Amino acid sequence: MMKKTTIALILVFMVLSLVMVGCGSEPAPSAADLAKGQELVESRCISCHSLDLVADARYGKTGWETTVMRMVSLGTALNHAEQVKVVEYLAATYH
Ligand code: HEC
Repeated sequence: MMKKTTIALILVFMVLSLVMVGCGSEPAPSAADLAKGQELVESRCISCHSLDLVADARYGKTGWETTVMRMVSLGTALNHAEQVKVVEYLAATYH
């Protein structure tokens, strides 16, 4: 008969490993999502500055998330789902 503490430890390790697997499995954006993101950037990010300004920037995913949120607060027309696609495209292209 196993001790209760042993069982508790095994349960803790099982939960921890599940959490770690979960974090590593963020799905890569599909080619269709990236194409949609590119289309959105090329149509919505050009009214205030040129696309060069976008293409010259190099950010990771969080950096692009912050930048896109800032552009939206400045008046860029993108709904939430579009922002997600734009960030995926930018993070995959300009990093
Ligand atoms: C409503 C006008 C407007 C639109 C539309 C716009 N931007 Fe900007 N953007 C600005 C202004 C103003 C600046 C310069 C001031 C600043 O950085 O806050 C700027 C600067 C930038 C910069 C350089 C500064 C930095 O933080 O790296 C990047 C990159 C950028 N924009 C990306 C984008 C992207 C990507 C989009 C489309 C999702 C976009 N912008 C759409 C107004 C806009």
